[in-house]
Amino acid sequence: MNTIRPIGIIGYGKYVPERILTNADMEKMVETNDEWIVSRTGIRERHIAAPEQATSDLAYEAAVQALKTAGMSAEDLELIIVATITPDTFFPSTACILQDKLGAKKAAAFDLSAACSGFVYGMATANGMLQTGMYNNALVIGADALSRITDYTDRNTCVLFGDGAGAVVLGEVSPGRGFLSFDLGAEGSGGSLLKLEAGGSRLPASEETIQDKKHYIYMNGREVFKFAVRVMGTATEEVLRKAGKGKEDIDLFVPHQANIRIIQSAMQRLDLPEEKCVINVDKYANTSAASIPLALVEAAEEGRMKEGDTILLVGFGGGLTWGASVLVW
Ligand code: UT7
Repeated sequence: MNTIRPIGIIGYGKYVPERILTNADMEKMVETNDEWIVSRTGIRERHIAAPEQATSDLAYEAAVQALKTAGMSAEDLELIIVATITPDTFFPSTACILQDKLGAKKAAAFDLSAACSGFVYGMATANGMLQTGMYNNALVIGADALSRITDYTDRNTCVLFGDGAGAVVLGEVSPGRGFLSFDLGAEGSGGSLLKLEAGGSRLPASEETIQDKKHYIYMNGREVFKFAVRVMGTATEEVLRKAGKGKEDIDLFVPHQANIRIIQSAMQRLDLPEEKCVINVDKYANTSAASIPLALVEAAEEGRMKEGDTILLVGFGGGLTWGASVLVW
């Protein structure tokens, strides 16, 4: 990557709603059991937004914390990007709703849709805009309330998802630190493997779409699993190559938290010991765009990275999409 000025993470925050749904709770809702869920996915519980909480409310809590750790006030913000597939409304965007809640009057604001890869896509977008000098700082958030589009009578999907938000503030950092590379990609041909079919311009909401449960997530789990294992490997190799780094240089690996088996296959490919990998899928399940920042921020809060550490982020999701980044903390 041709670095014009080094951009990196200068603040971070996260939020998950209070209510927890455990595997035991799921057993009461659908025909499933803790043993199946843990052995197939690694998930033990997930956090669920309260009825009055929308995605912007989750994003707001994470944003306030991120601004605090950055030592910045909302009025200083120049750009807000919210990566989400569960916006409060189609429009106004969740980023605009958040801009108002924060009082970030100077900031441009828009949403970005790349499902679980959205946070990495968002950081890549902001990084480009900051490097060229178009803006000096950006708040990038991955936030989703998947519980709002989950069918809690479908055991194939309902055990997998949770709600949350993770936020970072990006700004100029000292030379040698910050983002070294990004690798973003899409395979639109696989879009129908993971989708929410109705409610858009193709199939507007109607009594029929509601009856047919087309406002809920549909997923072909097995096919998405294969895609995930493949691109976690290829994107990781590509983003390391672009950064001029090898797998032995990775100090911390922060993968999308969808399934422990997908994470383990990536760790094997990278020859990484467990202590170099952030895993919190057991506590939060798959939170879509929030998943990578929740893992990154939790690791930072636990003091798992020190200045100069090389961190690799990688995720995949609906679209189909993938996104990876190498950065120096
Ligand atoms: O963020 C990106 C989005 N998604 C993902 O990353 C998901 C990727 N896919 C996966 O993680 C896995 O494919 C799943 C966890 C979704 C499923 O695991 P699997 O090992 O691929 O299971 P399967 O789909 O092959 O299903 C095995 C069996 C089926 O029964 P039969 O047909 O073999 O009799 C399912 O009906 O497990 C059954 N099953 C369940 N049983 C108990 C599916 N869901 C459940 C459940 N509890 N919750």
